Amino acid sequence: MENRFYVTTPIYYVNDEPHIGHAYTTILADVLAQLHRVFGDEVFFLTGTDEHGQKLQNAAVKNKREPLDYCDEMVMRFKKTWRKLHIKNDDFIRTTEERHIKVVSEILQRIYDRGEIYSAEYEGWYCVHEERFWTEKDLVEGNCPDCNRPVTKITEMNYFFKMSKYQNWLVDYIEKNPDFIQPAFRRNEVLGFLKKPLGDLCISRPKARLSWGIELPFDRQYVCYVWFDALINYISAIGYLSDDKKFESWWPAVHLIGKDILTTHAVYWPCMLKAMDLPQPKTIFAHGWWLVGETKMSKSLGNVVKPLQLADKYGVDAFRYFLMREMTLGQDSTYSEESFISRYNSDLANDLGNLLSRTLKMIQSYTDGKIPAPPGDNSDNELARRFEKLIPETREKVATLKLNRAVEDILELVRATNRYIEKNKPWALAKKGEKEKLGRILYNAAETLRLVSLLLSPIMPEKCKVIQDQLGLQDDTAGNLAWGGLKPGTSIKPGEGLFPRLQQPKAEAINMTEKEELPEGVIGFEEFGKVKMRTARVLEAEKVPKADKLLKLQIDLGSEKRQIVAGIAEYYTPEDMIGKNLVVVSNLKPAKIRGVDSNGMLLAATHGKKLVLVTTDHDIDPGAEIS
Ligand code: MSP
Repeated sequence: MENRFYVTTPIYYVNDEPHIGHAYTTILADVLAQLHRVFGDEVFFLTGTDEHGQKLQNAAVKNKREPLDYCDEMVMRFKKTWRKLHIKNDDFIRTTEERHIKVVSEILQRIYDRGEIYSAEYEGWYCVHEERFWTEKDLVEGNCPDCNRPVTKITEMNYFFKMSKYQNWLVDYIEKNPDFIQPAFRRNEVLGFLKKPLGDLCISRPKARLSWGIELPFDRQYVCYVWFDALINYISAIGYLSDDKKFESWWPAVHLIGKDILTTHAVYWPCMLKAMDLPQPKTIFAHGWWLVGETKMSKSLGNVVKPLQLADKYGVDAFRYFLMREMTLGQDSTYSEESFISRYNSDLANDLGNLLSRTLKMIQSYTDGKIPAPPGDNSDNELARRFEKLIPETREKVATLKLNRAVEDILELVRATNRYIEKNKPWALAKKGEKEKLGRILYNAAETLRLVSLLLSPIMPEKCKVIQDQLGLQDDTAGNLAWGGLKPGTSIKPGEGLFPRLQQPKAEAINMTEKEELPEGVIGFEEFGKVKMRTARVLEAEKVPKADKLLKLQIDLGSEKRQIVAGIAEYYTPEDMIGKNLVVVSNLKPAKIRGVDSNGMLLAATHGKKLVLVTTDHDIDPGAEIS
């Protein structure tokens, strides 16, 4: 596996207020960077701010400020937010810095000299908000197709980058490099976009209209288009044209972006790099949106989720954990306080927090507050085996950006350790005086906690430090990622509970009082909302003996494995079922069917003598909510 990792976030518009969307990309980059560090890789993590362009100029004018002065003040909000959220970036680039401006200017001159840029009269519909031109047929009812705002017709001389000539090369490159644009469906989206002829890119704005930008070195009457300027941050920050050694040691990058800026990154940027004769990015990964309810966040709707408020209320680490665990990379996710609290309570309070407190309590009572001796022979040590398997799996998931799955696997080890304690009942061993076995069980539980704290520390640095402190670890043992690093005899230092349980906020009084009368047979949203449905993948299937119609299924529900019994044996064989993505009612009261436990119900459509299972249209992770 490669041992150098250069990861970037988009550079954020400095006039925006940081929200959960910005926080997500930045925390994701941070977690990936720190995980690579845990695995011993060399890492460079870059973030920053995008400070030129029309929007910024307008905001500065509105606030009666000089643009740079205004940027200097606004950039602090991002820097402060990242500090509070424990972001450990290696550099922070602002596009108004001299080191960046110089590189943009030099690149413009070089590619101009090579005939990659020409001037021409341009007529088009300009959207100030999106800072781009549209053709007549792009418009939707006369408005900008992206933001729906009115557009203005403009005819002027401008400079163009000859992007169209790279179209065939780009299609070919994307097709030959399947990991270049991820996830795969975004790659297909870009290939779809490239089926239409690709135009040249207008890269200038006349100063008469917009002065806040980087001057074109070959025509001082113009400034550079903000996206052409901004994309270059990814190379100017690591020394392109100023420090060759540094640049070559880090480039190419893994770019993390939101799906909203896919075209600029997956079309404009590769063509720009090609014109500069530079290697392409390793990966461009487009994640989905954080939604609130069904809708996008927006200032006008007043539903913007502010990361610092949440972090203040529930703790930075729990916030980081929630974001990483909850979003399936690539898909949209919905934020709600209810889902935050339920994720917190189940994973952090019940599973991880509980494992730490019960393990420490038992070590306190049964082995005098000291880590007991490890088992001499590890050959039948199920926790050690599981951990050793987890390491390469986690590496693989981190490399393929399946972070939510990696987190889930680590939590599964925590759950397995809780089950291990229940199965081996240290309290009973203590009663019977079976000291050696007791010591072994407690050592294994404490060692798993130490290793889990190392794997989760990129996500929850503070809480993992607390775990390590309470286990009595010195820094040298804390960093060792091999089973058995925990030293026997270490005095533990139990302290406060790691994740105190949270109460779900009470349903709004208004919901309780205003009960609307509904016509017979009609249900309200509230009632429907009580039925929890999730996607589930079938892991194993077998017939239920002496019951012709029943199949017993083991299913993966994302956060847990379950058994369900379904009356489908006349329609599906056990082999048919393996690997299917089902839709399952997950909060149904468990039942026994012909003496076999069934925990949940799958959905199927029936018509006459026909029965077909309800499955998902595309592949999606098990455990996805159906709503
Ligand atoms: N300045 C450009 C990027 C230039 S990169 C060379 C820009 N900035 S932005 O401030 O609008 O930030 C965009 C990024 O913020 C998105 O691509 C995404 O990473 C993140 N998000 C903004 N809103 C989001 C959500 N609601 N959900 C998830 N992430 C989104 O575009």
